Amino acid sequence: MSRLNVFTEQSSAILEQITAPAQIAERLQSIGVQFEQWQANQPLATDADQAAVLAAYADDIETLNRQYGFTTVDVVALGPDHPQKAEMRAKFLSEHTHADFEVRFFVDGSGSFYLHSNGHIYAVTCEKGDLISVPAGTTHWFDMGSSPSFKCIRFFTTPDGWVGDFTGSDIAERYPSFDQLTA
Ligand SMILES: [Fe+2]
Repeated sequence: MSRLNVFTEQSSAILEQITAPAQIAERLQSIGVQFEQWQANQPLATDADQAAVLAAYADDIETLNRQYGFTTVDVVALGPDHPQKAEMRAKFLSEHTHADFEVRFFVDGSGSFYLHSNGHIYAVTCEKGDLISVPAGTTHWFDMGSSPSFKCIRFFTTPDGWVGDFTGSDIAERYPSFDQLTA
């Protein structure tokens, strides 16, 4: 189930937990983060290729594209058997920002985005059907867990917009990991 756990900057104790998607969206909107849920136009096999995935969500992709004018839309998948899963998990596990906004739609699987904004940490555990947009310049990190499993549509407006600009903070280590949040 999709959920939002809110923490303060000072403590790793959960301040508030929200599971209703409309409430998650409303709360995240207050920090400029877009959250919504999409339904596939047609049934999609778990091993569906990029073209089939993009076709299944064509209407929602088109709506979002009219709003933002993406230059690239692609599909990325990672499974627990991937030999580089630890390195890939580590890549965005520390606090960073991007020059471009980070937009992800979960076709399958899950992952947690941690948004550091307004004196709080908003840990959004996304599942199948969730779209999240992290604004450019918003400090955040992402945890796919020790046994990652997800298939995501990625949206880009700038080449290399996904490159992480790391803050050097160790704040990410002080909050529950994806494994702990979903245990
Ligand atoms: Fe990121």
